[in-house]
Amino acid sequence: MSDHEFIAIIDSGVGGLTVAREVMRQLPGESILYFGDNARCPYGSRAPEEIQAFSFQMIEFVSKFPIKALVVACNTATAVVLEEAKKRLPLPVIGVIEPGARAAIGVTKTNRIGVIGTETTIRTKAYELAVKQLRPDSFAFGLACPAFVPLVETHRQHTEEAQKEVERTLAPLQGLDLDTLILGCTHYPLLAPLIQEAVGPKITLISSAEETASEVSRLLGGLTDGFSPGKALPLFPPRHCFYTSGNALSFQRIAEEWLGFPVEVESRPLEKLYQS
Ligand code: DGL
Repeated sequence: MSDHEFIAIIDSGVGGLTVAREVMRQLPGESILYFGDNARCPYGSRAPEEIQAFSFQMIEFVSKFPIKALVVACNTATAVVLEEAKKRLPLPVIGVIEPGARAAIGVTKTNRIGVIGTETTIRTKAYELAVKQLRPDSFAFGLACPAFVPLVETHRQHTEEAQKEVERTLAPLQGLDLDTLILGCTHYPLLAPLIQEAVGPKITLISSAEETASEVSRLLGGLTDGFSPGKALPLFPPRHCFYTSGNALSFQRIAEEWLGFPVEVESRPLEKLYQS
């Protein structure tokens, strides 16, 4: 384990896998240490104090490993703790909101941008502020979608129930004339086909995963397209470790489907989080 220096990725559950997959694609030589707090997911409807306490427990857990960067792959946690985490940790800490806003600004042609996220993310208006900061004359509309995360966490994203729920929840976006929609929750890319179907083909969906991974790459001084002939090969092949505070099998099922390769997942119940 000490042979590797990991990029730590944390989320309330499986959502951060959407960011992990992109980090693996852009930085194939890097080792990933993932922690999903599935036992306490969803975070999105919790009080900020609770989200802060839980997030720092995750950070404390991953900090026990040799890590060289931390990705807060959860919009809700990013909105609540990113600045404090940056102050407390002596390594690069990357959130998902600023990269998501930047990606949306890079795509929109009409400056009419929608944001969907958890109740907390939408309540903080973090995306709207980030979008406005990058492009002051833009219109940003936020919509909370509290039913989406439970659908993904329980692996029901391919069901008719999910399709109906997505359609019903996104109905308020109709008539707003948006051309871009930010998936402001890392769980939502797993529902992307249903979301696209509900909003129609004219709206471009934005996931912050790609831009976040590019930011990790920039901060670590790497190359976004993997290895180049002049770049030294890593001493050890990458190793990916997955931990969950919840059920390992259910996490594994979703992780393997999303990542496309077999993974081993270790369950770390909350009461044993700090034991090595
Ligand atoms: N995946 C998380 C996010 O990006 C939060 C989901 C939740 O726990 O509510 O906001």
